[in-house]
Amino acid sequence: MEHENIVIRRGTRSRLPIIVAVHSTALGQAIGGCRLAHYPHWRDGLTDALRLSAAMSDKAALAGLPNGGGKTVVALPPGRTLDQAERRDVLYDVGDVIASLDGGYATGPDVGTGPDDMVTIAERTPYAFCRPVSAGGSGDSSVHTAAGVLAAPRAVCAERFGSPDLGGRSFAVLGLGRVGTHVLRLLAQEKATLVAADIDESRRADAGDATWVTPQECLTADVDVLVPSALGGLFTPATVPHLRCAAIAGPANNQLDEPATAALLHDRGILWAPDFVVSAGGIIHATAVELHHETSEQAGARVEAIAGTLTEILRTTGSTPLAAARAKARRRMMGE
Ligand code: PHE
Repeated sequence: MEHENIVIRRGTRSRLPIIVAVHSTALGQAIGGCRLAHYPHWRDGLTDALRLSAAMSDKAALAGLPNGGGKTVVALPPGRTLDQAERRDVLYDVGDVIASLDGGYATGPDVGTGPDDMVTIAERTPYAFCRPVSAGGSGDSSVHTAAGVLAAPRAVCAERFGSPDLGGRSFAVLGLGRVGTHVLRLLAQEKATLVAADIDESRRADAGDATWVTPQECLTADVDVLVPSALGGLFTPATVPHLRCAAIAGPANNQLDEPATAALLHDRGILWAPDFVVSAGGIIHATAVELHHETSEQAGARVEAIAGTLTEILRTTGSTPLAAARAKARRRMMGE
C-alpha cells in the first residue's frame, strides 16, 4: 500500500460514496482538489482518487511546496444529477470527512467543483482552498493554473524549436473547461495558430478564432504542441501511434494510461511535459496567498518558475521526462 490513508464513507446526508485519498504527508499537509464526477462504479472513482492523489504528491514536491498529495472524489452514478440542496448535502458530507482528518488534508476546486463549493465545504472544515476573494479565499485557481500552463509550452518550445516564442507556433487545445478556456485565450493573445475541441459541442462558443474540430481530430492534429486540458488517460499504446504533434504540454491530470506510455512517446520523438509539473499553478498560487500571505503578484512569480523546473526535467538525458520528474520529486521528498 502506497497511500497513507484512504477514507471511503457513504455520505450521511447524500448517501453517495465520498472518497478521500491521502497519498503522502511526508512534506506537510496533503493538498488536492475535490472531484465531483460520474463513474460507472464507485470503485472506478476510488481508482481515480488513488492515482490523482499520488500525482498530487509529485506535483506539490516539484512545485517546491511544503505539502503532500491527496484528492477527494465524489463518485456520482451514471446519469445522476444534483439539485441545489443535494449538492449542498454532498459538499457537507465532503467537509465532514475532511474535518475528521484533523488538518492532514486540505481540498480545493477540481473537475466538477468551483470556488463557491469551497465556501460550502468550509462551513464544515477550515481546510478548503480557493473560496472566492470576497469570501476570504484566494479565488478561482483556474486562471493561475492556466498561467502556469503557458510557462510550459514556452519551455517546451525553447527546447524543441530553440525559442520560447509562442507567436506563429501551432497548438491544439483539447478540452475547454475552466482551465482550457483560459489557456486558449492566453495562446490567442500570443498570436499562436489554434485548433480546439471539446466533447461538449456547446463549448464551441468559447473557442474564439480557433479552428473547431472533433476531439479525435484535435488529439491527432498536426501541430507543434498538443495541450490536453480535459480528463486523463488520453495517451495509450493505441493512441500514441496516431499522434502528429511535436510536443505535449497541458494541464489535464494523469494523461498517461500507464507510466510505460512515457517511453512510447519518447520513442516517437514526442516531447512530453509531465502533467504534474505543467498544472501546478493553481496549488502554487493558492498556498502562496492563503498560507504564506503573499500578494497575487508574488505568487504569480512562483507560478512562472514552472518553466525553469520543466527545462531542467526536459534536459535530463538518458531518461524520459516522466522518469526524470519522478526522480526529482522523490529527491525532494527525501529532503534534498
Ligand atoms: N485541482 C487542483 C489541482 O489539481 C487542486 C487544488 C487547487 C488544490 C488549488 C488546492 C488548491 O492541482
